[in-house]
Amino acid sequence: MKDLAGKHIVLGLSGGVACYKSAELCRLFVKAGASVQVVMSAAAQQFITPVTMQALSQHTVYGSQWDARVPNNMAHIQLTRQADLCVIAPASADLIAKLAHGMADDLLSLMCLARPIDRVPLMLAPAMNKEMWQHPATQRNLKQVALDGAQVLGVGCGEQACGESGDGRMLEPAEILDEVIAMFVPKVLKGQHVLVTAGPTFEAIDPVRGITNLSSGKMGFAIARAATEAGATVTLVAGPVNLPTPRGVHRVDVKSALNMLDAVENKASVANVFIATAAVADWRPVNASDRKIKKDGSGQPPALAFVENPDILARLAQSPRGLSQELYCVGFAAESHDLLVNAQAKRLRKGVPLLIGNIGPDTFGQDDNALLLVDETGARELSRDTKLSLARKLIADIAIRISAGVQK
Ligand code: CTP
Repeated sequence: MKDLAGKHIVLGLSGGVACYKSAELCRLFVKAGASVQVVMSAAAQQFITPVTMQALSQHTVYGSQWDARVPNNMAHIQLTRQADLCVIAPASADLIAKLAHGMADDLLSLMCLARPIDRVPLMLAPAMNKEMWQHPATQRNLKQVALDGAQVLGVGCGEQACGESGDGRMLEPAEILDEVIAMFVPKVLKGQHVLVTAGPTFEAIDPVRGITNLSSGKMGFAIARAATEAGATVTLVAGPVNLPTPRGVHRVDVKSALNMLDAVENKASVANVFIATAAVADWRPVNASDRKIKKDGSGQPPALAFVENPDILARLAQSPRGLSQELYCVGFAAESHDLLVNAQAKRLRKGVPLLIGNIGPDTFGQDDNALLLVDETGARELSRDTKLSLARKLIADIAIRISAGVQK
């Protein structure tokens, strides 16, 4: 199912060069399954035409409170009555100032004021020059609109259309889309701190070589994203992977299993949930050479000695907070066969209430997976789906387990 299926979004554009990004944003909303009603201020229409927005949204675009196409001639009332959300992107300094004062002298500002405030959330994606952004008046207005219930998104930093560089760029359309998707997710983990490990580890042999594995980190990153969407504070401890950090997630990059253990132990006292998805190397070379190991001409490979890495999951599960389930520990198992038997045995060996089994070769590097949730009562399957959908289901399941306070 598409992330925004069945949602009706009113997309408002106020004036700013960032209007060009709103065309893409509209397209992304539609692609995600939403129906989109576009409203443009007069200033917005100086930057991009209603023709483009109508073509992309496939609905008539409104720009004036006097537009007679609305049967009762009250566009400012009618447009939000069926809406699930109003997103203003870009939200100019001028529009934010108007909203802060309840001014309503054009369709866009009127519509924001006239929306049913308890039923239709308002999200603002500001965009402006860095001096306008930093100005105390703008910052004051932003605080006021947030106090009045609007969700104010951050801004990007970088080159601006005016040639200056700094804070004030509108977030990218994909980032705004993620914020909108997250807004609709029930906040079942609000107040919880979720700690996630993801990806492989890299165990150095010398400065240019090491031992690693094929874990892509995708499942762990999807879980971190799903936990944030569900309202948790999330720390993601990531081995060497090439993935973007999900919005709102605090990421700590590590290399080796020992680095990962350090980073995890650093956060373990504040976390309530620990989800270990990382494919931690079981062994590391005893002593990594600080110089590149050269061939010596004998044809003999160098003798490498290995030592076992600490089991991060088992260590946390056996800590006092793990044992009391103040820290709810969840393990993953990548198996090649006999999934249920192996996963149940691993769950008991690690001492965790919940272990998620999957068939490693079927999922490494893929965007989809199938999961088997194994607890003391048995097993439940989450059938093949995208890793993000599975992560959301898993997070919802974990939230129920935590709130029930039962070890399952
Ligand atoms: N894990 C960990 N630290 C390790 C090894 C594993 O935290 N040093 C965690 C993984 O993140 C995963 C779970 O333990 O959640 C299972 O790891 P896996 O490597 O599949 O299990 P092993 O105990 O190594 O068993 P085996 O290799 O025999 O299958």
